[in-house]
Amino acid sequence: MGTYFWISFLIIQLMVTVAKPQLIDSQLKLPNCPSTDPTLNYRPVIGIVSHPGDGASGRLNNASDVSYIAASYVKFVEMAGARVIPIIYTEPPEIINQKLNLVNGVIFTGGRTKEGLYFEVVKGIFKKVLEKNDAGEHFPLLAICLGFELLTMIISKDNNILEEFSASHQASTVQFVENIKFEGTVFGRFPPVLLKKMSTHCIVMQNHRFGISPERLQANKDLCNFFRILTTSVDKKNKVYVSSVQAQRYPITALQWHPEKNVFEWGSSQIPHTEDAIQVTQHVANYFVSEARKSSNKTVNSKVLDNLIYNYSPSYAGKVRGSFEEVYLFTSRPTLSSL
Ligand SMILES: *[C@@H]1O[C@H](CO)[C@@H](O)[C@H](O)[C@H]1NC(C)=O
Ligand SMILES: *[C@@H]1O[C@H](CO)[C@@H](O)[C@H](O)[C@H]1NC(C)=O
Repeated sequence: MGTYFWISFLIIQLMVTVAKPQLIDSQLKLPNCPSTDPTLNYRPVIGIVSHPGDGASGRLNNASDVSYIAASYVKFVEMAGARVIPIIYTEPPEIINQKLNLVNGVIFTGGRTKEGLYFEVVKGIFKKVLEKNDAGEHFPLLAICLGFELLTMIISKDNNILEEFSASHQASTVQFVENIKFEGTVFGRFPPVLLKKMSTHCIVMQNHRFGISPERLQANKDLCNFFRILTTSVDKKNKVYVSSVQAQRYPITALQWHPEKNVFEWGSSQIPHTEDAIQVTQHVANYFVSEARKSSNKTVNSKVLDNLIYNYSPSYAGKVRGSFEEVYLFTSRPTLSSL
């Protein structure tokens, strides 16, 4: 028995010794990497529309034409493998249109402005998103919080359609509609365990005073032709509102909640930062950028570089009790970050 063991041991040793040169040999060869999918664009760029103000109640910049993008949206895009071009809403329409031709998808952020130039610009960009998709270009849109509310107003053509809810600084669950098909939605590649947790644990962040109830959405022909409801949530007064929708025929997702906050914002103690909450952010970002990769490659490299967010520096707004940790500020006058 002992002899047999030792012979086996020696044979294994011998095999390991003999195998070694082969290992080195294979290391010398160039790796044989399978080619990537030629139908996908692996250098996607996302346009994020700036919102009026400085995101810090004037504590960073009081200019009347200042607008901001919370850096959390930028990092959210970057973490999933895309770069950002800011679409500054005060810029002339020609510039905004040129930028839309450089990007592979758009984000409408949270905020509070529902009127004036900002509303008109968002409306115009939404129209362009539909046109691009109708013309056969896959061009995704992710609308978050205020973005969701603006789409609701624009699609219903009713600026009074929103209802009031009490969901400021509230972490919540989401309840999936009955018989939901996750495939092809933002939730399509979430692990089932995480989906279940989202319906039992408060791992999505809400921060809104307006919204729409499922009844009111379903009663509006334009809205229910355009969107299907994926989830609802409950506010602090037990009122149910629609929290996630997906366009029926477009790569457009609208979320009343804030996927970007879980990873990147620390200003409210309610923001969930558990590992599950972090994964929610990551899966939403991965979904959105994977949709942008389906957008045709139209990179005009020098123009992209001239317009990337890297041409700007963020300001630390969290330190002056702003609503966000970091914000990018855009104004025709010098901003704090460029002084
Ligand atoms: C995109 O197009 C440019 C110019 O035609 C080309 O040089 C580049 O390799 C393309 N990139 C991808 C990811 O297909
Ligand atoms: C903006 O105006 C307010 C009120 O006058 C003032 O308290 C604040 O310091 C100003 N902010 C900046 C960046 O100058």
